Amino acid sequence: MRTLSLTGTNGVSDIHIAAGLLNHAGALLSATFSPSRIHIVTDTTVAPLYLGTLEAQLRQPVSHTIIPAGEAHKQLATVETIYHDMLAAGMTRQDLVIALGGGVVGDITGFAAATFLRGVSLCQIPTTLLAQVDSSVGGKTGVDLPEGKNLVGAFYQPRLVLIDPEVLATLSDATFADGMAEVIKYGYIANREILEQVARPDFKAHIDEIIYECVKIKRDVVAIDEHDTGLRMILNFGHTIGHAAEKLGHYTDLTHGQAVAVGMVAAMRLSALRGDADLSAPLVSLLEHVGLPTALQYDREAVFDALLSDKKKFGGTVNFILVRDPGRAEITPIDAQTLHDYILKL
Ligand code: GLY
Repeated sequence: MRTLSLTGTNGVSDIHIAAGLLNHAGALLSATFSPSRIHIVTDTTVAPLYLGTLEAQLRQPVSHTIIPAGEAHKQLATVETIYHDMLAAGMTRQDLVIALGGGVVGDITGFAAATFLRGVSLCQIPTTLLAQVDSSVGGKTGVDLPEGKNLVGAFYQPRLVLIDPEVLATLSDATFADGMAEVIKYGYIANREILEQVARPDFKAHIDEIIYECVKIKRDVVAIDEHDTGLRMILNFGHTIGHAAEKLGHYTDLTHGQAVAVGMVAAMRLSALRGDADLSAPLVSLLEHVGLPTALQYDREAVFDALLSDKKKFGGTVNFILVRDPGRAEITPIDAQTLHDYILKL
């Protein structure tokens, strides 16, 4: 088992990574927490696969909420259901909440844990590649509003994150590929060796090592900028145009990873329009190798409008993440008019 630790505003977060870890979750939880009760939040996809395995290892009284799978349920009404279930189970501030699932379960449960009784202990057990390399680590929690994604939330570090790459065996190829977009992002922003690992025909056989390298990058970035006011923005490489594409596809045409893939290629082409070397061809090859799309299929004016309505704009300037040298990202403020001109040429 390998462990990475992160100190955030609400305490230390220990991130354990090992194949088969889910089968030892009970012992790892007992070593860290002494709750009287445990409440698990999972969804209709994950519950039949792993909820029984987890519950069977817990000595304390356990309750659970099984939410419907999918981003459409990442809303305040779902959080309210979790609060009611926790109250009905008799949960107190000394007790523990576990998120068992992908990014949606993790974000919702994290927000419920951050706010229930003004904060209870949280453990994340991510079951998708995307959640393992990205959303379960770093303390971003929240829900969507009809006006947009992740508009309500809190920074709240999980005390424990248990990452078991063996649970990825039950993912569909498409869901696995979704997480690979974030993996490739890490390679481009911070460690080009990840790109070499992913380019291998047998990259899936080395996914444990790849996950560890990605989580290490995320830990290092969040340790410097937990609240996303500076360095953490590099984690948004591909996300600025990616979020716009997700929105234009009504959050159904493209998954998050697919949108990030398309957004990374667009960001590379935008670099070339600014006069840098065009590095998009090797990125396109790598994304195709892992089964991700690369073409931005939306009207460019609509992409620009959707991008500007995203919460990451600051006045007339967008902090765009550019990679001019794979393995190193640059936060580049671009004024809205200039960005408009580039996007029309993409
Ligand atoms: N997923 C981006 C971040 O955690 O900041």
